[in-house]
Amino acid sequence: MSILSNLDEYKRWRDNKLANANTKIGPCLIEISNPFGLTHSEKDRVRLLCQQNNFALFNIEQQDNYSQAIIAINKQLGLIDYDPHLYVQEQGLAHITQSVKKDQAEFIPYTDKAIGWHTDGYYNAIEQRIRAFSLFCVTPANHGGENQWIDQQMVYLQLRESNPDVAKALTHTQAMSIPEHIVNGVVRRKTSIGAIFFIDESSSQLYMRYTQRKKNIKFLDAQEVKRAIAILDAHLNTTTEYHFSHTMTANQGMLCNNILHKRSGFIDNPINPRLVLRGRYFNRLN
Ligand SMILES: [Fe+2]
Repeated sequence: MSILSNLDEYKRWRDNKLANANTKIGPCLIEISNPFGLTHSEKDRVRLLCQQNNFALFNIEQQDNYSQAIIAINKQLGLIDYDPHLYVQEQGLAHITQSVKKDQAEFIPYTDKAIGWHTDGYYNAIEQRIRAFSLFCVTPANHGGENQWIDQQMVYLQLRESNPDVAKALTHTQAMSIPEHIVNGVVRRKTSIGAIFFIDESSSQLYMRYTQRKKNIKFLDAQEVKRAIAILDAHLNTTTEYHFSHTMTANQGMLCNNILHKRSGFIDNPINPRLVLRGRYFNRLN
């Protein structure tokens, strides 16, 4: 039984979610005084925000070594099992900045371009499902680089309330597939087929796997799924009170349960380009 199949369970979950959802940045932003020794109250606040909204924002003071500080914060919150992804550097953190390396620059995060709505690791295999990620801004862009996000569970709730057939179609187990990724005859990633909304067995939480990027993505050739995706995209491009937009300043970060997010394009200061540290984890924040 889950909120997807049991109406009473869904209603309890919905009412609880609506009663605790934040709609403003302020109450979601925590000052962390020492990244290497979080206080009980700092940890509790991050956990509560992540239970209720699936994200928390934080500020830290200037550091000598930002990577070590972020790894320390993440570890103290149970984010340990990181995705050993292609461009990961020390202990699971990727340095998201405009890349001069050609192969890396083929991946949009390493450019100054906008990125549409997605959850991270939507192409990963089940055993490498990304349940949480952290972003930390070391250097903001001169202009742009704004993040927008919405709690993916709230998106499901909103769709189910306004259009239950659409919410249902997005749970189709073959709704979205990503073909295998082959480089020089070697399979780097297997085909990934699955639902857009489903219950993640290990956490029993509603999970979303999605990207608005249409390149290399196949949606099920069924009328109800195609219509549902068009309605989902239209919904994401409106602004509800649960849509957030924020440009992270230096020393500011986000911890989240793989929230649905996007990024605007940006213009760098060429001397000091935008640098964001990102960690992706199989663990969940709760
Ligand atoms: Fe992302």
